[in-house]
Amino acid sequence: MATPEPTESPQPPRHQTPEEFRAAGHATVDWLADYLAGVADRPVTPGIAPGDVRALLPDRVPEAGEPFEALLDDVDQVVAPALTHWQHPGFYGYFPCNSSPPAVLGELLSAGLGTQGMLWSTGPACTELEIHVLDWLVDLCGLPDRFRSDGPGGGVIQDSASSATLCAILAARDRAGGAPAIANLVAYTSTEAHSSVEKGVRIAGFEAGQLRAVAADADHAMDPVALAEAVAADRAAGLVPCIVVATVGSTSSGAVDPLPAIAEVAAEAGAWLHVDAAWAGSAAVCPEHRHLLEGLDRADSYCFNPHKWLLTNFDCTAFYLADRAPLLDSLSILPEYLRNAASDAGEVVDFRDWQVPLGRRFRSLKLWFVLRSYGVEGLQAHIRHHVAAAGALAERVAAHPRLELAAPPSLALVCLRHVDGDDATEALLAAVNATGEAFLTHTRLHDRYVLRVAVGGTWTTAGHVERLGDLLDAHA
Ligand SMILES: Cc1ncc(COP(=O)(O)O)c(C=O)c1O
Repeated sequence: MATPEPTESPQPPRHQTPEEFRAAGHATVDWLADYLAGVADRPVTPGIAPGDVRALLPDRVPEAGEPFEALLDDVDQVVAPALTHWQHPGFYGYFPCNSSPPAVLGELLSAGLGTQGMLWSTGPACTELEIHVLDWLVDLCGLPDRFRSDGPGGGVIQDSASSATLCAILAARDRAGGAPAIANLVAYTSTEAHSSVEKGVRIAGFEAGQLRAVAADADHAMDPVALAEAVAADRAAGLVPCIVVATVGSTSSGAVDPLPAIAEVAAEAGAWLHVDAAWAGSAAVCPEHRHLLEGLDRADSYCFNPHKWLLTNFDCTAFYLADRAPLLDSLSILPEYLRNAASDAGEVVDFRDWQVPLGRRFRSLKLWFVLRSYGVEGLQAHIRHHVAAAGALAERVAAHPRLELAAPPSLALVCLRHVDGDDATEALLAAVNATGEAFLTHTRLHDRYVLRVAVGGTWTTAGHVERLGDLLDAHA
């Protein structure tokens, strides 16, 4: 039998050289700068049908690598025309999802550094910068001192408010006895809470009937009397109130639950209080909006999303705990392969224990870049400009013969409807969105169809909101 020829040993792939990477990176930033400079000239939403994008993509991965220019070309030709442009100044749908140049560059650095910060030891600066900027946010937003890292509490960046709320529910569940006790535990939130509360409770192993949807008042805020009654009835039935999730800035109308009264009920019942201010929390950079958070000093946990309205790219949720021990008790598992001297000595924070996944990105870089680039003045200007623009729109709606406010304006969210009823309101939404200049979404309040105008895009100015007012006027 013939001896086989020695095979060539496998070679690494061809990577971009540093010079090629530099050129491709410059070209990418150039493309993005042009995109942002021109995004207002595109229709906010693309006129495409399901499957249109896939029809333009090859069936398989190319056998040989392609030049970078071809990739960027396809972003230009295939991807960008088929996007809903969240950074368009006429985007008023859902809640904003801010992006800003310093945050983009922070993201780029985070990707390039490629740090996986599950443990302090896997990237000490990744963990320490995160602790530090979250303490900065406590100062910036006037949050209670109990959320600072130098006491029993502290902050951590989660991917989303949904994850933060889930973590709060898990910690509360386990503090109240965990899996063996779960059949007797009850969670409370309002009928206007975000769907992530229901999802979190479900993931945590509660049955649907163990979440009480507490009635809201006429302005869509949780009724604390109804909460107290529900809690009392459950306790009388031998059940254990486990967690109350209150909302500051509800998704449909921006309603603010009365935290002081809710905190009183939660404390009396021994239940965990989590406050979800996913959107509205960013407004606390302005002292004049901090009254919305009155009572937060009695909350066990709190979250808000700089990725909504604080110029920081998705994903970035600031999640704070008054006492981190219950969360760590719920989520800490230490396999041998993650043991290290710093963790064993108990000298460091390992953020893997503060979240559901093990691995984590270096998210604090982009937040740090935003806070330093804009400064307190810039961040306050961002919020104040939008609140003022939304206020002017609300006045215009209130004075309009064919439009009316559907809820009290909240910060930079205006809810409105056509006086002729749901069909007319729905037709107005379709007509405004069909212009391509603006994009609104809807909700239902008091069982009526309502348009939501969520002012807050990075590039949205008072002038754009005035133009939206003209469009509403023209199509109402
Ligand atoms: C009040 C509230 N909570 C939670 C969420 C969910 O946020 P995320 O996408 O970060 O999970 C939203 C989203 O709009 C929200 O408005």
